[in-house]
Amino acid sequence: MLSRSPYAARCHATWSPAIAALALIALVGCHRDMYDQPRLEPLEKNTFFDDGRASRPLVEGVVEYGAIPPDSVILTGKVNGQLTDELPPEFKLDAALLKRGEQRFNVFCSNCHGLSGDGDGMIVLRGYRKPPTYHSERLRGTPIGHFFDVATNGFGVMPSYASQIPVEDRWAIAAYIRALQLTQYAKLDDLPEAERQQLENQPAATPSPSAP
Ligand code: HEC
Repeated sequence: MLSRSPYAARCHATWSPAIAALALIALVGCHRDMYDQPRLEPLEKNTFFDDGRASRPLVEGVVEYGAIPPDSVILTGKVNGQLTDELPPEFKLDAALLKRGEQRFNVFCSNCHGLSGDGDGMIVLRGYRKPPTYHSERLRGTPIGHFFDVATNGFGVMPSYASQIPVEDRWAIAAYIRALQLTQYAKLDDLPEAERQQLENQPAATPSPSAP
């Protein structure tokens, strides 16, 4: 009669706890149903974040969806259907806004309108329709809301830039276009008193001898 070999017995003894453990893991794993997924309740405690809260505070500057009325001046450039001649109250006209406007204008608009707004950008030099210069009497007299409106909705063959340029940057660009216009038509009277006197006291420029 054959007896069970000692080897077989040893093997059996080593494997059975491992199989039992695997079976246990499999059982526990099977218990989790889809309706019972791991998740955090609103405002529940959690140690993952330093402040111990599972719900995260809102990111700075976040705006509730729909919080700005769609007909407000900041989104339309218009007050009661009329183009506004002022920056919306949310913006402060300062060097930082103009710098941002300059940077964004140079990226998005100068390729057609040219760096100084004359309408001779690179795309135009290569055959695209030439936009009007910003320095015409008509566009110098147009309210700033027009620049925002054109960037937002497009104008004639010019496409809309609303999907590429956020609202704040479109206003920064509008303010910068106004500044560009001033660079061509600033009057001496527009300068602060001190700077005006400094200019007036300067000796008149004399042509350099090498000039033709
Ligand atoms: C792809 C070339 C192109 C780009 C880029 C471009 N424009 Fe224009 N823009 C034009 C053309 C062309 C016109 C004239 C459209 C027409 O009369 O059909 C125009 C017209 C305008 C006008 C004058 C509208 C009027 O009253 O005559 C303004 C203001 C203007 N663009 C602002 C902008 C601003 C701001 C940007 C950047 C956000 C921009 N454009 C980017 C091509 C461009």
